[in-house]
Amino acid sequence: MQTTITGLGSYLPEKILTNADLEKMVDTSNEWIIERTGVSERRILSKEESSSTMGAEAALAAIRAADISVKSIDLIIVATCSPDGMFPSTANRIQAIIGAKNAVCFDINSACNGFLSGLIVGNSLINSKQYNNALIIGSEALSRLVDWSDRNTCVLFGDGAGAVILEKSKNDAFGIVDFQFGSDGNNGDLLFATGPGSIKNELVKEAKIIMDGQNVFKHAVNTMSAVTKDLLKQTNLTIEDIDLCIPHQANIRILNAIAKNLSIDEGAMFSNVNKYGNTSAASIPIALTEAFYANMLNEGDTLLFTAFGAGLNWGSVILNWGQINKPEK
Ligand code: ACO
Repeated sequence: MQTTITGLGSYLPEKILTNADLEKMVDTSNEWIIERTGVSERRILSKEESSSTMGAEAALAAIRAADISVKSIDLIIVATCSPDGMFPSTANRIQAIIGAKNAVCFDINSACNGFLSGLIVGNSLINSKQYNNALIIGSEALSRLVDWSDRNTCVLFGDGAGAVILEKSKNDAFGIVDFQFGSDGNNGDLLFATGPGSIKNELVKEAKIIMDGQNVFKHAVNTMSAVTKDLLKQTNLTIEDIDLCIPHQANIRILNAIAKNLSIDEGAMFSNVNKYGNTSAASIPIALTEAFYANMLNEGDTLLFTAFGAGLNWGSVILNWGQINKPEK
């Protein structure tokens, strides 16, 4: 049995923070940011918004696209490393906002790899035959964790949410083909957030992202390339079988290096990092939704998702796309 995506949607906050705006906040330039990251602008949530409100908007769009009732949702899995709070989970909060009263809810934190983890946990739970469907959401309010005086990190990240509905596939030709993941806890200090948590540190009151950019860059390129090669081998596919690669949108140089390592043609690597920056667990479902509404996904296309993030955690998923209806937006 295969599970497949039957609906998808995204939500991007209205406020745009451009590189020109950042030039007024830290010692940086539009040229430096574009050359080193490929990011021109990113979205920033409003005071009233949070990971749960953005995730709920994306979820409702995905539910409309899948044309299912909110009450029929069995599972809500939210991938986030910027939850509303320590508890209750952001999934529970979204449940309350959208009224999915019959769903079982929990969050997953594997940073930028979170959406792929959520997708595969949802896939496995549906395959366990206990549940018929799952709402998988990636939602991030990273602007609340960013140190806006640190030019090394503040230029990279953005806010937003994306969601998919996963259901048993009615046609075995469509759905998740296979996946592979990896983790390396020993390198956790290459990228981490301070702030609320159980580590006792009187000095750290505020959340902040701390990153060894160059090392993260190398690990990201090497692991996403390696895990994808392993997955292709595992599935007896070659890179020529992949119609579109939708990677975690970290940095255009990371994406270009992976494309080079894997010999992916320019047109077969999706990128929108220029508009939204790195939205961590939200970046793949936001990119997938954008590719869908830009008519870039055709029935039977083989899609490759690959991601890497703090933890360290990484993974790749291959999915055969079954076409779904486009609801009125
Ligand atoms: N504007 C201007 N100058 C800057 C800025 C900035 N925003 N940030 C750093 N610099 C300076 C540095 O201070 C340094 O100056 P120095 O030579 O005088 O010391 C110089 O630019 C070069 O700094 P590097 O760190 O060597 O720059 P690099 O080319 O490595 O680019 C970057 C930095 C963009 C952070 C890169 O390392 C990177 O993309 N790393 C991956 C980070 C990432 O993607 N993290 C997201 C989470 S994990 C994931 O999603 C995969």
